[in-house]
Amino acid sequence: MQNYNEFLAETLIDEEKLQSRVKEMGAEISADYDDGNLLLICILRGGVPFLVDLSRHITSPHMMDFMAVSSYGIGRRESSGTVRVSLDLQTDIHEKDVLLVEDIVDSGRTISSVLEMLKLRQPRSLKLCALLDKPERREAEVEIHYRGFSIPNKFVFGYGLDLDEYYRNLRFVGVVDLDKYKPPS
Ligand code: IMP
Ligand code: MG
Repeated sequence: MQNYNEFLAETLIDEEKLQSRVKEMGAEISADYDDGNLLLICILRGGVPFLVDLSRHITSPHMMDFMAVSSYGIGRRESSGTVRVSLDLQTDIHEKDVLLVEDIVDSGRTISSVLEMLKLRQPRSLKLCALLDKPERREAEVEIHYRGFSIPNKFVFGYGLDLDEYYRNLRFVGVVDLDKYKPPS
């Protein structure tokens, strides 16, 4: 695998900016949910670093659970909107205050089908928290209740976001130079 320096076009959001924004979001969520009924749902795998950092800044008692969905793509970097649950929750969300934690809302197709599906399970409330938002790419309407950063239409990686499953561990969000990136063979 390449070192990311070989294809990093620019650092879009550095570690300091990410961490201070995540801290602010945690404070906002703590103020809004204060009765111990909060359940954070993280969509695997991209939401993991964000969920971990965010939950440490949420002072109200809360639970967490995980789910994995796969969308059948049109191309390698596109999602189709046909979402299949590949790992379901272990928690009954009925009457819970559910906050869905996502890395990025791009076309919005993935998250809108997940929201629709969760709504059928009758949670007390259902909201969306997304670290990144690419509004130019939106195709399905989604309300983002807690938004970290609005970003331009560029393919990004790091802090949960992958390039062919690598680089999720990086502490910053960077833009890929797709001419220089070589996918694993
Ligand atoms: P959507 O259904 O088009 O909103 O797709 C959202 C999913 O696509 C995210 O959860 C990411 O896994 C992935 N994705 C979208 N944009 C990017 C990107 O710029 N870098 C890495 N993954 C992305
Ligand atoms: Mg994702």
